[in-house]
Amino acid sequence: MAADLQNNNPTSFAAPNGALWGGRFEGRPSEFLQEYGASLPIDKRMWQEDIQGSQAHATMLAQVGVLSEDDKAAIIDGLNAVAADIAAGNFVFDINDEDIHMSVEKSLTARIGAAGGRLHTGRSRNDQVALDAHLIARKMARELHAKVLKLREALLGRAEQEFGVVMPGYTHLQRAQPVLFSHHMLAYYWMFERDCKRLRTAYEAADVCPLGSAALAGTTYPLDRSLTAQLLGLSAVTPNSMDSVSDRDFMCDLVYACAMTQMHLSRLCEELVLWSSGEFGFITMDDTYSTGSSIMPQKKNPDFAELTRGKTGRVYGDLVTLLTVLKGLPLAYNKDMQEDKEPTFDAVDTVANALYAVTGMIQTMRVNKDRMRTGAEGGFMCATDLADYLVGKGMPFREAHSVVGAMVLWCEKNGRILQSLSADELRTFSEFFDDDALEAVDVEKVVAKRTTQGGTGHEPVQEQLNLAKERLTKDCAW
Ligand code: ARG
Repeated sequence: MAADLQNNNPTSFAAPNGALWGGRFEGRPSEFLQEYGASLPIDKRMWQEDIQGSQAHATMLAQVGVLSEDDKAAIIDGLNAVAADIAAGNFVFDINDEDIHMSVEKSLTARIGAAGGRLHTGRSRNDQVALDAHLIARKMARELHAKVLKLREALLGRAEQEFGVVMPGYTHLQRAQPVLFSHHMLAYYWMFERDCKRLRTAYEAADVCPLGSAALAGTTYPLDRSLTAQLLGLSAVTPNSMDSVSDRDFMCDLVYACAMTQMHLSRLCEELVLWSSGEFGFITMDDTYSTGSSIMPQKKNPDFAELTRGKTGRVYGDLVTLLTVLKGLPLAYNKDMQEDKEPTFDAVDTVANALYAVTGMIQTMRVNKDRMRTGAEGGFMCATDLADYLVGKGMPFREAHSVVGAMVLWCEKNGRILQSLSADELRTFSEFFDDDALEAVDVEKVVAKRTTQGGTGHEPVQEQLNLAKERLTKDCAW
């Protein structure tokens, strides 16, 4: 290869069989195998990163004297022309080129001749693909981060807008204690806040430069790896060439962040599906986020929430795929690793679309305050507070729990609710009950009394809102 680089014949370094590595071969894989081995349909998505990386590499090579200034200029201009062609849709991707790296280099050489053949000096596709993957993972982490911020903004917006609305809180999907709807929205807000943190971690993992590691062992050319990293805006150079070409941890970090985000989206969507049912009726999904039935004229289905829940499996699958590809790989590069991009891109695309859809659902759904309020008043959800009332009068909590339990049983048998008991009826259960007992079970008060930090009382929820706003501003500045 080195001898060919000195030769000005533009095609001399391409072997007779057409592939860029063909020199030592007499036969070539069948058409089927070429297609089987190709990653171009998937990795052509990294064309910008590939060109950016090559331009940085050429600039660095010229800086250290490995490449002439003329060759460097020809390479930079030529790559700009390739980029313009791809951007305009005029580039013909040929499956025989195996991957985006081959494709771009071949097109460059066809344009500028021998200088194109000098670009790959001191570089291997192993460190080239690692670099492209780092760059695109970094970009994707940032784009997803921005989308999660939009959803956090939407959840926060609804929490502010509906402040004061009371709804049933559940455990085991059984009505447990009344909570503020804002509190419920903010619970999701914090899940997505943590997802942002995970995405920033994925960004940082990708923000290092493996280029200059060559095939696995480094190279004899006097490369300035720090300069390449600096040209690409990457914050550090990787410390070990073998690790550099075989590390895909940064992709796992990104896909893990996707899996967690999708899991949170799925939980939220599950609630939206339940809440929009006739039985709950807590929200009305906007028509624009609903579909109808081809046979039942009355139907309005929360399809997109369901679909989001359904897409969670594929994102988990992407994570397991990626982890399994890497499991058992000896150092350093192995062709197995070509299977890294499809699951990564699929996870990112799926979550990006889901985030967009769910943000719209949250922004547009109608909150049915009355239904929530009615739900909060039924189901004996004030029982704990009635027990606490007895504790306040001096009864041990265990005994109070048992007294109120007996009251609930009696109410159930007699078709009554706790709030309907008269003072005399109350006293048949315990002489600790005074006339003020039922005030303790007023739903507003039950909520307002939960004043512990992070609780559902109006005051701590207001504090939580302020904190959430602060964090949103901070994360938006990232
Ligand atoms: N298409 C390959 C991939 O995505 C690029 C690296 C190929 N390197 C090699 N030695 N075959 O992993």
